[in-house]
Amino acid sequence: MRKTIIAGNWKLYKTINEAIELANGLKRELFKANFSAVDVVLCPVFTALSEVAEVLNETDIQLGAQDLYWQDEGAFTGEVSAPMLKDAGCRYVIIGHSERRQFFGETNEMVNKKIKAALKHELTPIICVGENLQEREANNTFKVIEGHIQGALVDISAKDMLKSVIAYEPVWAIGTGKTATGEQAQEVHKFIRDLLRKIYGEEVASSVRIQYGGSVKPENIVELMGKPDVDGALVGGASLKVDSFSSIVIKASEVVK
Ligand code: PGA
Repeated sequence: MRKTIIAGNWKLYKTINEAIELANGLKRELFKANFSAVDVVLCPVFTALSEVAEVLNETDIQLGAQDLYWQDEGAFTGEVSAPMLKDAGCRYVIIGHSERRQFFGETNEMVNKKIKAALKHELTPIICVGENLQEREANNTFKVIEGHIQGALVDISAKDMLKSVIAYEPVWAIGTGKTATGEQAQEVHKFIRDLLRKIYGEEVASSVRIQYGGSVKPENIVELMGKPDVDGALVGGASLKVDSFSSIVIKASEVVK
């Protein structure tokens, strides 16, 4: 049994006060519902982490960051490390998001180092993989996904893999309003699970949670969650409003597999 995990990636949105307001709104809304069947994670910008941690204190909602640097400390201007994220109250960290790969030149090697740093400090990495439109249209989806997975997981043990989460995010579906259909998501999720089986064996393959990301909304979460290998969602735009994100969490918690 894989516990559903819904994470909100707030990207470069929300000042500290706005982040506190959103976190408070979600706390209130989710408190009314029973979401114990779902792990809920909020990933604000770095500057709002401590304040959001305070809002989430003594709730079942977890805190995550959107990135980290692989060194613990040093002369690395502008970076934030795993121990610092832990210190701010994080349990999760998104790694290798397509926007980091696309706009900040992140490579599979960097993603691999970041995953190792997260695991070393007991942060759960949410490892993002996904093809862009050209790659999909050229029928290279599986090749690209395999490259991302193999590259990200170099020297990651089965024990560490069991502590990790994968997010399949087709780049063509991110922020575009175009969602993958349930079938399209399932096809790639199954491919990823089969790859994990080849690399690590059955226990890891059947335990690791694979989220879908890319224009997830209250209107499509049920279809996506209905697929056997879709274990949750990484939500961008729809995580910025109390109504849409809490509705996604509640609807996801009602899908029985
Ligand atoms: P979106 O973003 O839900 O706005 O498409 C998802 C993501 O980038 O994680």
